[in-house]
Amino acid sequence: MKALILCGGKGTRLRPLTYTMAKQLIPVANKPIIQIVIEQVRDAGIRDIGIVISPETGEQVQKAIGNGARWDAGIHYILQSEPGGLAHAVKSARLFLEDYPFLMFLGDNLIQGGVSQSVKDFMNSSNEAMIHLKEVADPSRFGVAVLGDNKKVVRLIEKPAEPPSNLAMVGIYLFRPAIHRAIDRIKPSWRGELEITDAIQAMIESGNPVEAKILEGWWLDTGKKDDILEANRVVLDEYTRPVCNGQVDRRSRVVGRVAIGAGSKVVNSVIRGPAVLGENVMIEDSFIGPYTALGNESVLENVSIEHSVVLNNCCLKNVERIEDSLIGSNARVSRVMDQRRAVRIFLGDDSEVLI
Ligand code: G1P
Repeated sequence: MKALILCGGKGTRLRPLTYTMAKQLIPVANKPIIQIVIEQVRDAGIRDIGIVISPETGEQVQKAIGNGARWDAGIHYILQSEPGGLAHAVKSARLFLEDYPFLMFLGDNLIQGGVSQSVKDFMNSSNEAMIHLKEVADPSRFGVAVLGDNKKVVRLIEKPAEPPSNLAMVGIYLFRPAIHRAIDRIKPSWRGELEITDAIQAMIESGNPVEAKILEGWWLDTGKKDDILEANRVVLDEYTRPVCNGQVDRRSRVVGRVAIGAGSKVVNSVIRGPAVLGENVMIEDSFIGPYTALGNESVLENVSIEHSVVLNNCCLKNVERIEDSLIGSNARVSRVMDQRRAVRIFLGDDSEVLI
């Protein structure tokens, strides 16, 4: 069995961060999302992994992830020359996939409990495809499924204006080689893409059984800022273990599950977990509240922050309360101690500030 992780896309809804980084590299709980995906794939026993990259961010992804040795896996990179859709990505990976059954995993999706059970169930079945579904409140943002008897999929529609059910398609699929023939039969959709949803629908129409698994646990599709914060909250909640590789002075209090990276210093501050501090983070006279992830080399002085993701090398000073925030690398946020109550801003394109 092989795995195909998709790591293209422009991530327009995550600008300005995605002007300089692939959305799959945005960290939750200080780990790039794609790294958590790779761990879930490896935990399902798959060691032969293809990552589909785009010309824009491919090099950056390769640099961050490498050849897979640190997960005891082989990682091959496959360039998708244009953003032609998920089925086009599978087409681009045809040589890598050969006729193996494969797990396809969108590099910005995460599910609770990983994919081991699904991989086992699929390998024990004779179905040509298995999809994952999750009940959602806003199905028209996703592919939507209609199920018949025995959980067999009857119909799939990509982003329908009037959804026929509340079952959204999760970006995790299992396929046998019939998918390749189905992809050859489909045409681009209204958004100009070869949709994997249409290819699976074509499989159903030609009589191939497609099974659905409805997820009970969480599903995170990290397309927008609030999704990243939610993923950060859920991943910190589930995976943070208390560990201190830095220094905490006697005037500070660290409560709950807090992971403190090597070289970090906490002075006269309170940290309430779950929270994670990267390496060489400096915290002074501050409050770090639950669901906060602080990237390496960041400096916080006289700050109160909670439920936020701060990337590497940021400097936050004298700000009373930061909440629900996603702050990119090298950013500076500070209160100037003068009489005028003006807000002075130097923002990147497509930024958002709520005051
Ligand atoms: C893609 C799929 C869609 C699926 C979603 C899950 O949408 O086309 O069927 O529900 O991923 O993340 P996209 O992210 O391309 O809008």
